[in-house]
Amino acid sequence: MKPPHILLIVGGGIAAYKACELIRLIRKAGMTVRCVLTEGGAQFITPMTLAALSENEVFTTLWDLKNETEMGHIQLSREADLIVVCPATADLLAKMAAGISDSLATTVLLATDTPVLAVPAMNVRMWQHAATQRNVARLRDDGVTVIDPDDGAMACGEFGPGRLPEPVAIMERIEAALARPSGLREGQGLPLYGKRVLITAGPTHEPIDPVRYIANRSSGKQGFAIAAAAAALGADVHLIAGPVHLPTPPGVTRIDVETAREMAAAVDAALPADIAILVAAVADWRTADAADQKIKKTGGALPVLQLAENPDILAGLAHDARRPALLVGFAAETENVVEHAQAKLARKGCDWIVANDVSGDVMGGADNAVHIVTAQGVESWSNLPKDQVARKLMEKIADVVR
Ligand code: CTP
Repeated sequence: MKPPHILLIVGGGIAAYKACELIRLIRKAGMTVRCVLTEGGAQFITPMTLAALSENEVFTTLWDLKNETEMGHIQLSREADLIVVCPATADLLAKMAAGISDSLATTVLLATDTPVLAVPAMNVRMWQHAATQRNVARLRDDGVTVIDPDDGAMACGEFGPGRLPEPVAIMERIEAALARPSGLREGQGLPLYGKRVLITAGPTHEPIDPVRYIANRSSGKQGFAIAAAAAALGADVHLIAGPVHLPTPPGVTRIDVETAREMAAAVDAALPADIAILVAAVADWRTADAADQKIKKTGGALPVLQLAENPDILAGLAHDARRPALLVGFAAETENVVEHAQAKLARKGCDWIVANDVSGDVMGGADNAVHIVTAQGVESWSNLPKDQVARKLMEKIADVVR
């Protein structure tokens, strides 16, 4: 069988250099690749670099007659099993969404019915701009797979979503796109396709003063694993994460928060959802009045922290008019795990409680032994790695919401 062939369109952004590594990975996976370099892209890397890495001629202009007779723009896309736009600049996304064809790259994209995977990379403000978000939504609606950019420090000195995902992660999405039966969109055919899943994860930090906070030992691993498992089953996942050092799972929309009140507001803004799984270890209390300046030792009286209760996000959601059809809470207990979980199920008004004994090293650890507590009864699972707990839980959820 012929190996898969990729048409790689390299746009004009500083992340263009990462396309070089992507070509290497595509070829290492046994695929062939041909590149189209936009005028902007050629400001960052040269056709020679791409030609050497792909071992194929590189195309840059629509008006190259020799190529129009021998390898026209229609042929370029027709021979490809997948078109990858990487980096996809704000300008390229806008032109794709509007159907503008004013260059070789945009003409190929308009003239094709080959699946397209766009990998955006741009300044955080450009990514968050309403126009870009509108274009991305339109493209997804049109069937283009648009990967969410990574969060982090950017070449322009700013911080936030907009970084090109690592080439290894892009490669995973290329392989997933190639594995999809033709005509299906990303996730289509999977059990949770079309379902919006809201997940909270990690701890919350409640400030005492500008340098100190109240926290807990939650690592966010279990919640992030659940987000990854839900996305792998085709769900549209919105992950509201407390302060953790974990990478965003592929295909997941992540909203970072710090405090319980910020988490509650982010959950509210992410509604409506079909399914909500609240895994976060939300701080029950915050300081009633966080100090504006660092609290100093006075040499005499010790500072007294006055606490106030945080909103209960799970209980609030259970009584909200927009309550998800399936609402799952977690319970971190150190004794009488199932009994406490049953009481919590009734008290909070959710459908299931996933209860775990956190008296050992579960918080921050790699494994978890859980009990699924519902009105119908209790199902206890043996100790499993957190990603397996996540997969089993999402498969169980997919079975009931189907
Ligand atoms: N939870 C929440 N908002 C809070 C506290 C907890 O949404 N302010 C959610 C958690 O995400 C979890 C569930 O409620 O899904 C249970 O959390 P847990 O900390 O075990 O329960 P608490 O409400 O804190 O009860 P207790 O401290 O009495 O065990």
